[in-house]
Amino acid sequence: MNTLHIVGARPNFMKVAPVLNALTRKDNVKQTLVHTGQHYDVNMSEVFFQQLGIPEPDVNLAVGSGTHATQTAEIMIRLEPVLLDRQPDLVLVYGDVNSTVATAMVCAKLGVRVGHVEAGLRSFDRTMPEEINRLVTDQLADLLFTPSEDGDENLRREGISAEKIFCVGNVMIDSLVRLLPAARKTATGGLPDSYALVTLHRPSNVDDNSSLKGILEVLLEVNRELAVVFPTHPRTRQRIEDFGLNTGQLRLVDPLPYIDFLALQTRATVVITDSGGIQEETTFLGVPCLTVRENTERPVTVSLGTNVLVGRDATKLRTELSTILAGNAKKGTVPPLWDGHAADRIADVVVRS
Ligand code: UD1
Repeated sequence: MNTLHIVGARPNFMKVAPVLNALTRKDNVKQTLVHTGQHYDVNMSEVFFQQLGIPEPDVNLAVGSGTHATQTAEIMIRLEPVLLDRQPDLVLVYGDVNSTVATAMVCAKLGVRVGHVEAGLRSFDRTMPEEINRLVTDQLADLLFTPSEDGDENLRREGISAEKIFCVGNVMIDSLVRLLPAARKTATGGLPDSYALVTLHRPSNVDDNSSLKGILEVLLEVNRELAVVFPTHPRTRQRIEDFGLNTGQLRLVDPLPYIDFLALQTRATVVITDSGGIQEETTFLGVPCLTVRENTERPVTVSLGTNVLVGRDATKLRTELSTILAGNAKKGTVPPLWDGHAADRIADVVVRS
């Protein structure tokens, strides 16, 4: 079988790594890896390939940044000839980024089968670009691999036939399980014993001056009690500069490599984030997570895990933080099938398909 994987942005890389490995162990599976170049900075892309042991991409479309329309269109234009040339039997797409939806659309028009890894997640918030990407990709996909049962329910409700849906568990957790021993051995020098680990990059939080200012003000207040360590996404760093915002004594650092960031997560007192994947990683690790969003496409992290949605409500964040600092953080459990073997289940389905 001739398979082709498409990745483009940071959260794709920890998802593709285990699937590539699992398919390598199958007979007669050819694999091609295409990087769209949506993320191109060394610390947003290359270091992840190194640490996750992902082979050099066979093709790099080098699309770079742009508006949503430009980025999506460029990926489509540059990908079409690659698919015509390589003639894959199945294309695997990951997550909910622009590279995912652009690929699904090109494949659908060429009649190439698509498998969507991390299908079925819904925030029910169509102002989020990722929600649009999820909805379109899932409508077009032929094989839908979900991380949890809520994903299956969402897909069935949207009319996707049950035989296309496979609840396989969480591939991101496969990478975490594999690299956790390395993370535990990694030093996080120069940090206090307790700290809050922060990440922010959602357009709704960081592209608007007053919302970013408001969040930073709360973080400055947190920082008086608990050191704030803030690996800063390039988009967020740019906005802080553009808006001329004060970050005071917050410890802003460059985006970190996978293992180094995982090491920081395992030792954090609390993680404050608007990321999707980090809600899942903290749930697996049992680390308290406060999510600076009104909704989540990953509800099991709230119903079963350690995640609490605080929105942009500063009072709620303060209250939840005091609960955590008083030692009364919510105790969570790990969702079913988040066991380090999701990619093996995907590979089994792929070779049978
Ligand atoms: C993208 C995904 C988001 C994911 C996030 C992880 C979409 C719609 N969004 O958002 O779901 O959670 O990746 O990071 O696909 N930039 C750089 N260097 C890079 C990449 C980006 O400086 O290597 C800057 C550019 O100014 C760019 C901005 O970051 O315009 C945003 O990048 P983009 O890929 O458009 O979206 P993200 O915000 O990273």
